[in-house]
Parts: sequence; structure tokens; C-alpha cells
Amino acid sequence: MKPYLIVKIGGAVATDTQLLQKLLTDLSQATDYACVLVHGGGKEVTALSERLGYQAEFRSGLRITSPGEMEVVDMVLGGKVNISLVRMATQIGLKAVGLGGQDGKLFSAKALTVDGVPDCRTGQILACDTSLVRLLCSEGYLPIIHSTCMATDGQGLNVNADEAAQALAVALEAEVLLYVSDIRGVLKNGQVIARLDEEALENEIDAGVISGGMIPKVRNASEAVSEGCGRVIIGGYQSTGDLSRLLAGESGTTIHDGV
Ligand SMILES: Nc1ncnc2c1ncn2[C@@H]1O[C@H](COP(=O)(O)OP(=O)(O)OP(=O)(O)O)[C@@H](O)[C@H]1O
Ligand SMILES: [Mg+2]
Repeated sequence: MKPYLIVKIGGAVATDTQLLQKLLTDLSQATDYACVLVHGGGKEVTALSERLGYQAEFRSGLRITSPGEMEVVDMVLGGKVNISLVRMATQIGLKAVGLGGQDGKLFSAKALTVDGVPDCRTGQILACDTSLVRLLCSEGYLPIIHSTCMATDGQGLNVNADEAAQALAVALEAEVLLYVSDIRGVLKNGQVIARLDEEALENEIDAGVISGGMIPKVRNASEAVSEGCGRVIIGGYQSTGDLSRLLAGESGTTIHDGV
């Protein structure tokens, strides 16, 4: 079996048709790897939530999902965003299959306990069953995964997509986990930080350099490295060929284990 490459797309990249077509074409040419795509779509979730009158709430960059918003998450991530990605990938010749955390018990999760939030539908992954993903990859399919999950009581849970990508990368012992977002890498004073380890990234969080959605991203990246994923890179995607540049370490931020 080929080594696994997990690409998580988020921010504006997850819904920008022109960029996605380029990125998916790059992926179709990354034939040395068994590729898996994980996507977020937080901006679209927030936009529809607000139209429906929900106030998005975040703590340390993590969306605190109410039961009403969970319905929005299912509709936007498992519906619109996932379906559009599968159609786009199919259009350029990839054998794409859309999956969520509940499919084939890919992710088992539990609801987070959050102070002052009675029925929090934000979840945390407890276990990852990769058998369906392995089966699809061995037959040349590209799994396109959204991070809705379920609790043992059958209720839906919203897991941060960076965490889903991390859990999958660790369980598949992936060679590379690549976080693609709408930034060129982890930035400090407008410059990309080339390399970060756990101690350095916690210092940058304390200093306020790393904030919002970048907090769960760097922490999940660091966990992936310490739990056996080969390489973890955080970067942006702007034009054709950027995937190879990121994989070659020519752009973005590499998260390493301090040695
Ligand atoms: N030091 C930093 N460097 C780069 N981006 C940062 C930094 N600190 C905070 N950010 C913010 O983090 C954002 C990326 O996280 P965000 O959760 O918004 O995107 P994503 O994880 O790619 O998408 P999604 O959450 O939809 O999956 C950037 O757009 C930026 O606004
Ligand atoms: Mg995010």
C-alpha cells in the first residue's frame, strides 16, 4: 500500500471553486500517495447560522455548537460543502466518495463538557476506525471526509476538522498531514514561521501571536507529530503546483517534535 497523504482544507480554500479545482488536480497527480481529503467549512457554517439567528460562539478557537447549530453543521458540512467537493473531484476524473465521522464508525466521539453550556454538541474524538478508508484507498478511491460525528446516544456531534484530520493521520500512520488554509503558514509579524515545536507554539499562543482557529490547528499538528505521523505542514494554496511546494517544505510551516 502507498503511504498516506492527508490533506485538510479549511478557511476560504474549502469553498473557493477555482482554487479547489487546482488543488484537486494537484492531488490527482500525487500518485505516490494514497490521498485522503478532510474538509472544514466553518465560514459557511457561521454565515448560515447567522442568517438563521444563531450567534456563533468560540472558545480557544473551537466552535461551541448548540443543538440548533448542529443542524446547520450537518446541512452545511455534510451537505453543501461535502457534496460540492465530491462533484468537483469527480469532474476532474478522481474517484471521490463523501464520508462523515458516522460512516463505517470512522470516528467515535463524545460531547465536550463546557462551563455554562448545558447541551454542547461540540465533540471530541475518542477512537478512529480506518477500515472503510483503507478499503476505499486500496481500490483507488479518494475519500472526502467531513467531521460531523455521533455520540453513543446517537446524537450528532460537531468535531473540529483539524482534530478529525489529526486522528485520521495518526490512525493511518500517515507519511504527511497537510493543513491547507487561507494563510501562507503560521505567521508572526507578517512572516511565515518556518518551523515550530510544541514548546514554541505554546509560547506563541501565550503571547497572542497564534489565536482563533490557529490554536486548535497547531495543537492538533503537534499531537499528530508526537503520535507517529511522519510530517505535518501548515500552509496556504494559491496556484497550481503549490501542493508539491508544500510537500517539499518550500513553503508553509513545518511542525516538528523538537529534535
Ligand atoms: N499566527 C497566526 N498565523 C496565521 N493565522 C492565524 C494566526 N493566528 C490566528 N490565525 C487565524 O487562524 C485562521 C485559520 O483558522 P480557521 O479555523 O479560521 O481556518 P481553518 O481551520 O482552515 O478552517 P475551518 O475551521 O473551516 O476548517 C486564519 O485565517 C487566521 O485568521
Ligand atoms: Mg479551523
